[in-house]
Amino acid sequence: MQNLLVTGGCGFIGSNFIHYLFRQSDFTGRIINLDALTYAGNPENLTGIAEAYPERYVFVKADICDAEALAEIFDRYQVDAVCHFAAESHVDRSIVSPDAFVQTNVVGTFNLLQAARERLDRIRLFHHVSTDEVFGSLGKEGLFTEETCYQPNSPYSASKAASDHLVRAYHHTYGLPVTISNCSNNYGPYQFPEKLIPLMILNASEGKPLPVYGDGSNVRDWLYVEDHCQAIWQIMTRGRRGETYNVGGDTELPNLTVVETICDKLDELTPGAAPRRELITFVKDRPGHDWRYAIDFSKLRRELGWTPSESFQSGIEKTIRWYLEHREWVERVRSGEYQKWIREHYG
Ligand code: NAD
Ligand code: DAU
Repeated sequence: MQNLLVTGGCGFIGSNFIHYLFRQSDFTGRIINLDALTYAGNPENLTGIAEAYPERYVFVKADICDAEALAEIFDRYQVDAVCHFAAESHVDRSIVSPDAFVQTNVVGTFNLLQAARERLDRIRLFHHVSTDEVFGSLGKEGLFTEETCYQPNSPYSASKAASDHLVRAYHHTYGLPVTISNCSNNYGPYQFPEKLIPLMILNASEGKPLPVYGDGSNVRDWLYVEDHCQAIWQIMTRGRRGETYNVGGDTELPNLTVVETICDKLDELTPGAAPRRELITFVKDRPGHDWRYAIDFSKLRRELGWTPSESFQSGIEKTIRWYLEHREWVERVRSGEYQKWIREHYG
């Protein structure tokens, strides 16, 4: 893998992955970061990378829905591997306006697969980053395995399920070398503050209400983003082609516990305000809200020896500190200022 195309590299996990590849992995090639810079993509997540690795990093503003642009990029940069993060990623947005989810997650993935298929002799790997949400919802018992039937419940998860199926089909039909990872909820630096953890950190630190959907009993499995990046790289370098791997954090928590943990940690780190738990407000539930996700990642542990290394207690403290120390990033992302900045810099 000498010319690795990373799609969505200015988003939350994609930018963490690029930092990880350059700073903590054995990757020696070049990264071509292709991102459309939607509201969720922020080039500031990669500040310093282009300067530190001028020969090994290129940013290209492009949309994966634009097949012609993809063909040109694959050839201009002699792309020989793909790690595909680009997606519309927020479930609530998919409920309000699903169109972009079908376009980017389904049609965009299809376009990338076509570009790779047309260059089959050169492509060594197409890694597709997916989610545990494709498996639907669990009751009190059980875990998602790689054999669990797909039962996506939201427009977001349905679009990701469709893309997983396309990736699998391109391996089966055309022999494209692929790997797929289905991961649980990530948290950590650079996550757009619409998702539960950064939203709660910021609202709690600003004395704003903390909107918990329903009764807060829904369960998610939490994984620190750097552990996810490490898992992806191990799958890309050592995973069996044509296989899917579940990735999880072994950290199942009800939403209310997550929010209370954030409140208590903030009370400890920035004392003085009234106890943050008083800000918790139960609000109308998300339509079709999946109740529980839980991951069996024993295949990844058994075949590649991967296990998560960050505990939730240490990971959440690091994450809270990061958001408190990056107020400027937060303000720019939230105010839409960075959208203006993107227009000025990238047109
Ligand atoms: P994100 O929303 O933070 O970032 C998405 C990135 O994709 C942004 O930089 C955005 O500009 C870019 N993008 C969107 N549409 C595009 C298009 N049409 N063309 C090119 N670029 C486009 O998302 P994330 O949380 O970093 O998730 C990355 C991937 O990981 C997604 O595929 C998501 O489904 C998957 N995933 C996320 C989680 C999680 O907890 N966040 C868990 C499991 C899997
Ligand atoms: O499981 C992996 C998925 O995790 C990824 O594929 C998605 O891209 C990612 O967004 C995430 O989906 P969730 O819907 O689980 O994440 P979110 O942060 O939106 O919500 C987490 C839980 O918290 C969920 O049960 C809904 C609840 N929630 C969320 C928000 C934003 C609240 O109670 N209040 C809120 O304000």
